Parts: sequence; structure tokens; C-alpha cells
Amino acid sequence: MTVLGKPLELRGVTLPNRIALAPMCQYSARDGLPGDWHLAHLGARAVGGAGLVIAEATAVLPEGRISPRDTGIWSGAHVDAWRPITAFIAAQGAVPALQLAHAGFKASTYWPFAQERGGVPDGDGGWQPVGPGAEPFIPSYRAPRALDEAGITAVIDAFAQAAVRAVDAGFQAVEIHAAHGYLLHEFYSPLTNHRTDGWGGDRPARMRLALAVARAVRAAVGPDLPVLARVSATDWTDGGWDVADTVVLARELAAAGVDLIDCSSGGAAPHADIPLGPGYQVPLAQRVRAEAGVLTGAVGLITEPEQAERIVEDGQADLVLLGRELLRDPYWPRRALDRLGGLPHWPDQYQ
Ligand code: FNR
Repeated sequence: MTVLGKPLELRGVTLPNRIALAPMCQYSARDGLPGDWHLAHLGARAVGGAGLVIAEATAVLPEGRISPRDTGIWSGAHVDAWRPITAFIAAQGAVPALQLAHAGFKASTYWPFAQERGGVPDGDGGWQPVGPGAEPFIPSYRAPRALDEAGITAVIDAFAQAAVRAVDAGFQAVEIHAAHGYLLHEFYSPLTNHRTDGWGGDRPARMRLALAVARAVRAAVGPDLPVLARVSATDWTDGGWDVADTVVLARELAAAGVDLIDCSSGGAAPHADIPLGPGYQVPLAQRVRAEAGVLTGAVGLITEPEQAERIVEDGQADLVLLGRELLRDPYWPRRALDRLGGLPHWPDQYQ
């Protein structure tokens, strides 16, 4: 029997298997509203057998969008737009989850398939981003406004309200996006947080925002809904955040009510040398799982069923997330479980 096909219980929700669609921006929304593309894209991966379908980085505030085409969850109109999508995912037996995001100083940029690059000016639908400081991420991005105390409180509150809306929209889990050089990672990484108030300085002060958001989201969704957090487990550069820091963060996130740490990496250092290769981030998930005693998710260049099976079997991670491989083949989970000897749960229509 395949371990990849074993259910995973997270609080009041049971994932039917250990395969998740990694959150992936589609840059296909207007005013933050998801539409037919999102239904077809996410729906196909649910039909394809992913046990957990995590919808893309979805902004908790309009200024927290990476690009003007990102999805959002900052109003009731967004709840209505997400509802048919979550209903379809759940009807396939998958668990719909929403990644709650704030892009911080990486907001208001052109989407990858735009003609232009870098920061979007006001005249083209852009806005001034916010961040831990006033320095832009890279010169071609817009210079942010440093968040003040009231701004930080508003961000924490926005994550909590977004989590409530996500539940209202039918999501059965949420993932806090605290990775990839976006706002929460910008605060905990020493590379990007140079604040001298209570939100910067030593590691506890830098972690404070991510932890405050985790506590607020847990309080907002109640005790039964799974809360995941995606972290950048290392900045891959000297003087940056590293996996030993992540072990500490993971323990504290768990104490704040987070159920699983999704271990990604990078995004805060523009020129980091990332050792890309098959399963290159799996050792991060393994170490965090072993040393922090939390459930972890592994992601990054996982493409083979046997590779995924081994990750779970060897106790490197509890959940395997696939991004690009699931873009190439939405049926990867069903094919993988078939090949590994799991139950071939094809939809009736496809039997
Ligand atoms: C991503 N990734 C990503 N990560 C995230 O946390 N939130 C997001 O919205 C996105 N958006 C996104 C869009 C696209 C088109 C890609 C390809 C990637 C990263 C993604 O979740 C995953 O971590 C990486 O792609 C590595 O996994 P794979 O693709 O090697 O399986």
C-alpha cells in the first residue's frame, strides 16, 4: 500500500492523500476576482486527484497583490467569486485551501507574461507598495512606504478578516504565505528588515509579525480548520535567514496554531545562488520536521511518483506539494497512485 495515498488528518479535516497542488499565481484576475480560468485550472487538479488543492497567493489587501492581476479576498465580492470554485473542488473529494498573501515590497509588479518588467506605475494600474523599510527590493521595483505601527496592525487584522472570508467562501484550510520575499518573510529575514522598533532587530522581533498573523488567523478560523504556513526555510546566502532559524520559527508557529510547515526557500536575496535539483528543498522539510517536531510539506522539483513516495515513507515530510509537474499533467496524482499500487479512484465519468 502506498503511503502517498494515505489520508492525512489535520484538525477537523482529512486530506484523502498526501499530494497537494502547490499554490501558483495565474495572473488572470481582474480587481482580485477569480473567474472561469481559476475554476478550470483548480478544478482540473482536483479531478486529477490532488488531495489538497491550494489556490494561489491571494491578497488580503489590494496593495498586497504581487501584480494587478492577482486574486484577492478583501471583500464580499471575492467571497462570492471563490464560492463556485471551492464547491467544485470539494465535490471531487479534494480539500480546497487558500493561500493568504501580502506581497509587501514586491507588490505592484508586472506579471511574468506581460511585455513590461519591474514595478507597475500608477498610470498602468499600479500603486505604492509597503514594506519593512523604504528601500525597493531591486532598483526596477517601486520604492515602498515603511509600515508604521498602525499599518502593521491593519495587516494583521486583514489576514484575520481574509481567513474568515476564506472559510465563508468554502475553503477548508488556509495557508499563510510567509515565504519568497513577501511581507512576512521580509520582516523575519535579516536581509530585508532593518527596523529598530519592536518589529525588527533580533530574531524574536523579526519573527513577531509572522507569529502575530498566525495567532490572528488561528483565532479567526476557530479550532477545527487546518492552518498551514509556507516559509522560506533559508535565504541561501551568508548573513541571511537559515534553516536553524526556521526550526525556531516553526516551533513558534506551531504554538501559535499552525498545523503544517510548507518548506520552500529563497526570495529575499535577489542574487542568491540556489542549488536547484530534484527535491532540492526536501532536506529543509526533513530537518524542520525532525528538529521542530512539526508536520512539514516538501516542495520543489518533485516530479516522480517513487520520489514522492520515498519522501513520505522516509519521514522527510508529511505532505508532498507539486507545482509545475501538476501544470504539465493534472492527472499526475491519479497516475502516481495507480503506479504505486494505491486505489485507482478515477472519477466515474472517466472509468
Ligand atoms: C509559483 N510558486 C508560488 N508559490 C507560492 O507560495 N505562491 C504562489 O502563488 C506561487 N505562484 C507560482 C506561480 C507559478 C506559475 C509557479 C511555477 C510557481 C511556487 C510554487 O508553489 C512551487 O513552490 C515551485 O514552483 C516549486 O515547485 P515545483 O514547481 O518544482 O513543483
